[in-house]
Amino acid sequence: MDSKQVILITGASTGFGRLFAETLARRGHIVFATMRDPGGRNAKNAAEIRALAKRESLNLHVLELDVTDDTSVERAVRSVVDQAGRIDVAINNAGYAVAGLEEAVTLEQARQQLDTNFFGSVRVNRAVLPHMRRQRSGLLLHISSGAGRVVVPSFGFYCASKFALEALAESYRYELAAQGIESVIVQPGAYETPIFGNVVRAADQARTETYGVANEIPGKVSSVLAGSAGNPQEVADAVLQIVETPAGQRQLRYRISAASLGVDEINAVCDSVQNKLLGAFGLADDTTFVRRSAASAG
Ligand SMILES: NC(=O)c1ccc[n+]([C@@H]2O[C@H](COP(=O)([O-])OP(=O)(O)OC[C@H]3O[C@@H](n4cnc5c(N)ncnc54)[C@H](OP(=O)(O)O)[C@@H]3O)[C@@H](O)[C@H]2O)c1
Repeated sequence: MDSKQVILITGASTGFGRLFAETLARRGHIVFATMRDPGGRNAKNAAEIRALAKRESLNLHVLELDVTDDTSVERAVRSVVDQAGRIDVAINNAGYAVAGLEEAVTLEQARQQLDTNFFGSVRVNRAVLPHMRRQRSGLLLHISSGAGRVVVPSFGFYCASKFALEALAESYRYELAAQGIESVIVQPGAYETPIFGNVVRAADQARTETYGVANEIPGKVSSVLAGSAGNPQEVADAVLQIVETPAGQRQLRYRISAASLGVDEINAVCDSVQNKLLGAFGLADDTTFVRRSAASAG
């Protein structure tokens, strides 16, 4: 694989996605910073990225991609392959959080949460995988969260979307490694991005009347999360390091956080249990073979 990689990032208008795009492009990678509506509501963000690319002569391009829209995802991926000839890395980053007492979250809000944070990655992975399988190389990078491993009260649907993403990303890993494709999960803690200002509040507030003190949970949790947020460049630096790690040598999970909150322990326990489970299904040898194959594919 060329050391300069062709990278598609979803949700690159702001926050982590924007930092990933700038950090990776400054290292010489060919980066497609994708976002919703770059000609409209994200016009300022798109213009700033294009101006940076021009000013610093970066191989950094803006493309339209809404992860909830099949056609938009397929069009963006086709455009990357048409322009760059291949696609080496897909960073599934687009996401947001719904918060509030769970009963007050409407079904429509719950659907939208899963459609973006979970099915968005399914769409992107299904669009890029035929190209990666043809190349017999590639990296699917999933921006999960510590909330993909522990349950943060009043963020139940956000957690559900990230737990689902974790399960899928791990399952992809078993199936794709033999073809030189790696699936990796990044679990950031709380970082200072626009995510906290973009939280969608549970809409059906009439449901919360009888909840008493439980009504205080969302406020308490949100203020602690926002108050403990770190510098998001830490996550961008970690993503750069993962992208530049040789194929076959990447971990399945990377926890990036100043506060552990037990997520590392859960990862270690799950890894051990999962290895036993693979053995019970008679797949331990297969996955060993799979991992060796991936290492030699790099
Ligand atoms: N910051 C944290 O503390 C933290 C911790 C753990 C995990 N994460 C995860 O990190 C990822 C990025 O979040 P962030 O912290 O950088 O917050 P952010 O600045 O709010 O970024 C979220 C990005 O997702 C995009 N997005 C939302 N819906 C989309 C859709 N349908 N199609 C395409 N893009 C869409 C937003 O685009 P628009 O501009 O169009 O709205 C925005 O660019 C998320 O998956 C989040 O769950 C964040």
